[in-house]
Order: sequence, then C-alpha cells, then structure tokens
Amino acid sequence: MFNIFGNNQSSNNGRNNGNQNTPNQPREDVLIELKGIQKEYKTDAGPFLALKGIDLKIKSGEFVGVIGKSGSGKSTMINMITGIDRPTAGEVWVNGTPIHKFSENQMAKWRGTNMGVVFQFFQLLPTLTVIENVMLPMDFGNKYNPRERREKALDILALMDVDSQADKLPTMISGGQQQRVAIARALANDPPIVVADEPTGNLDSKTAAQVFELFQKLVEQGKTFLMVTHDDDLAGQLSRVITITDGQLDHEDHRPVQKIVPHSQNGSKPESESEEAQLEEVS
Ligand SMILES: Nc1ncnc2c1ncn2[C@@H]1O[C@H](COP(=O)(O)OP(=O)(O)OP(=O)(O)O)[C@@H](O)[C@H]1O
Ligand SMILES: [Mg+2]
Repeated sequence: MFNIFGNNQSSNNGRNNGNQNTPNQPREDVLIELKGIQKEYKTDAGPFLALKGIDLKIKSGEFVGVIGKSGSGKSTMINMITGIDRPTAGEVWVNGTPIHKFSENQMAKWRGTNMGVVFQFFQLLPTLTVIENVMLPMDFGNKYNPRERREKALDILALMDVDSQADKLPTMISGGQQQRVAIARALANDPPIVVADEPTGNLDSKTAAQVFELFQKLVEQGKTFLMVTHDDDLAGQLSRVITITDGQLDHEDHRPVQKIVPHSQNGSKPESESEEAQLEEVS
C-alpha cells in the first residue's frame, strides 16, 4: 500500500478500517484560513494592490486547485499561505496558528515542519546532490535523527521513482526528475500541508499526470493540498477549484471527484488501467 511514512494520517478513528482505498473525505475543520488579505507592492509607478481582500477557508484533507490569468495574484496569494511573503492587511491562520504574526525565524522554523512547498521552477540547490537537497529540510526540521535522515530521504526519492539519481547534482538529471526531487524535498518532514505553485508547469503531459496522481494519493493519505495550475485537464479533475481575477477570488467550482488516469505521451488514454504500471513508467 502506498504510504510514505508508515503512519496513516487519514485515519478517522477507526472508521473505514479494512478499506484503505476509500478516498479521504475532507473533514469539517478549517485548516487554512485567509481573512481579508491584501497585498500591496511598491512599484516605480506607485503602490499596486495585487490582492484586494481575499477570504478563503480550506479544510483538512482537501485538494484545492487555484487558477486564474497570468498576473491575477495566484503566486502572491500562495506566498501569503506559505509565509514566504507577508500581507499588507489581513490575517493568515494555519491550523489555529496566526502565522502573519511570526517573525522571520519563527516562520522558517514553523514552515519547515508544517508545510511542504513545491516551486514552479524546482529551486533545488545546484551545489548539493539530489539526496542532500531532500535531507536539507530534515536538518532544519529536526524531526528525524541525523542517522536516519539519509534512509528517509532515499525512501521518499524511491516513492518519486528518482532514488537512482540520489547522488547526482540537479543539473545532471532531467526537468521531470528535478520536479520529482523538488516534490520529495517538500515531503521531507512529512508535512500535513503541501502548497505547490504550478508544480507541473514544466512537465510533459504524461509526467504531469503522473505527478498529479501522486498528489492525489497523498491527499488520500490525509494531506491537504493547494495547487496553482494553468493545466485545465488537471484542474478539471479536482473537486474544488478557485479562480482568482485581478487580486480577488472570482468564483469556485465544485465537482464530484473523478478517477485520475495518466495520459500517454501523445495524449491518448493508456491501454493498461494499472496505476502501478503507469507509475513505473515515470522514470
Ligand atoms: N515583487 C513584486 N513587486 C511588484 N509587483 C509585483 C511583485 N510580484 C508580483 N507583482 C505583481 O502582482 C500581480 C500578481 O502577480 P502574481 O505573481 O501573483 O501573479 P500570478 O497569478 O501568479 O501570475 P502567473 O500565472 O504569471 O504566475 C502582477 O500584476 C505582478 O506584476
Ligand atoms: Mg505565479
């Protein structure tokens, strides 16, 4: 059974025991809440209001997509939730913690264990090997004993099917492999929340679908996912998609969850319906 860390985060006090394939239903508790978020950037042409009062609630166990035109404010909003940037006004609450009140140091420490961040352009450290990149947040997070970090990192890399690349530098592997390493790094400290800004933006459609399928499985295990995407195919497979227009939440789409089937390279459906078979094609 697909479970990275050997614990079952989607455990719901014994219900669904014996049926691990039951999709995790979002629980009613609000995990992430934005209240009246505004973000003003100072520009040469004067102040620019990139976020104009965002109110958003995300429940534990949800997989939420964020779409919108280029420049609409998606990354700016994501950066508020990860604490990588600060709101000019408003509040950001994550799991009952007002993270907008944190100092830089508090924020970095908190993020290290509570939130996995996947960047659009990977942002792997070029002078560290693949496995060192994944171990780095473990060193900061202090969740795992130093002696077990390498093994843990290898396990997560194996999950992403890039463990064979562990001792290479990021420049020596393909873009798709780098993206999967970046995802492995985001998962290093087993964070309950993963926030990904266009994580599949540079992947071919087949690899994008496979990465998306991995995300789906992590959500089934109990993680909460927020994913910016320009990919209509992927967004169309999410049960909740929010649209940002000119710095404001425009509308939400709610749909029944569909089964994800990775597309083959030419966009046609694969002949085999076996997820394992599809996952094995990743490398
Ligand atoms: N550091 C900054 N200084 C000034 N303006 C900025 C800054 N960062 C973003 N902006 C502006 O804020 C607006 C929102 O930018 P943001 O990066 O959030 O858009 P986005 O929806 O993520 O776009 P894309 O789809 O192209 O990634 C844009 O008009 C952008 O030019
Ligand atoms: Mg962006």
